[in-house]
Amino acid sequence: MTKDKGSVLITGASSGIGRTCALMLDQAGYQVFAGVRTIQALEGLSSLASGRLCPVILDITDAIQIRSACQTIGLRLEGKGLVALINNAGITLPGSMEFLSLDGFRKELEVNVIGHLAVTQAFLPWIREAKGRIINVGSALGKFVMPLTGAYAASKFALEAMTDALRRELLPSGIYVSLIAPGSVESAIWDKIDAEVAQMEAGLTQEANERYGQTGESIANLWKKAHCRAIPPEAVANVVLKILESSRPQSRYPIGPDARFLSIVGRFVPDSLVDWVVDKILTLSRG
Ligand SMILES: NC(=O)c1ccc[n+]([C@@H]2O[C@H](COP(=O)([O-])OP(=O)(O)OC[C@H]3O[C@@H](n4cnc5c(N)ncnc54)[C@H](OP(=O)(O)O)[C@@H]3O)[C@@H](O)[C@H]2O)c1
Repeated sequence: MTKDKGSVLITGASSGIGRTCALMLDQAGYQVFAGVRTIQALEGLSSLASGRLCPVILDITDAIQIRSACQTIGLRLEGKGLVALINNAGITLPGSMEFLSLDGFRKELEVNVIGHLAVTQAFLPWIREAKGRIINVGSALGKFVMPLTGAYAASKFALEAMTDALRRELLPSGIYVSLIAPGSVESAIWDKIDAEVAQMEAGLTQEANERYGQTGESIANLWKKAHCRAIPPEAVANVVLKILESSRPQSRYPIGPDARFLSIVGRFVPDSLVDWVVDKILTLSRG
């Protein structure tokens, strides 16, 4: 049997990156608490993991579920604390800023930003106990925005800022906070985006369609290409494992060639040039 390396909590572990991280960390000898939202997901994850992995029902926008997960996990930690919290849960919301539903935008921020803060605040006492780590799952779109991805990108930009603030606030306590910024990764998110795009298109007014229909077509084509280049979620889980096992983790880890490229573009290329290139790419990607 592998040596117990301490306890970690990962949110959004029902599929994709979260599930892969949960299973890889379980195999590597961590006691994994894996946040899922349904009994089916709980049973599905348990059937793939060692008996040590403990799935917990945790919708990160539900204060009662956060409190209850805190109590359950707190009892199991036996005073040893959490060596890591991995804030991974996430949703997407395509659409133009002009016609975006405000309720949809609020929900995007509620899950991708506020939910992570709520979970972080709730579990910080146990992270402190183990001088643990916090890993926030951002995105290549946390430094670079394409049209019609504004809501998702806004949430990931906010997560970047929250990560920087937390890292600087918690460094004196010996708690490292890192953000991973994957590019395209194979996961359930792509089918969800397709469904959301279809739903959004069905609800578009004629005016919205006239203004953004062509851009939508270009973005959909770019998305298809990005999906074809997606790296496996194991590549992300390997970086998470590296962060957990490094003595001094970095602040930010772009993952995948597209994320590394966009991270440089977002930081060093002037906006006017980026705007021009994005416009050209959208024109070339049409039809
Ligand atoms: N795949 C990519 O290309 C990519 C690239 C960059 C960043 N990311 C980020 O990676 C993270 C994981 O995404 P993924 O690609 O693995 O997609 P995914 O397979 O769709 O996983 C998303 C996870 O988040 C969970 N979730 C959604 N709303 C939640 C809530 N309110 N409370 C708790 N959990 C919730 C989902 O649970 P349910 O199954 O219950 O809905 C699911 O487990 C996200 O933060 C995403 O933004 C993904």
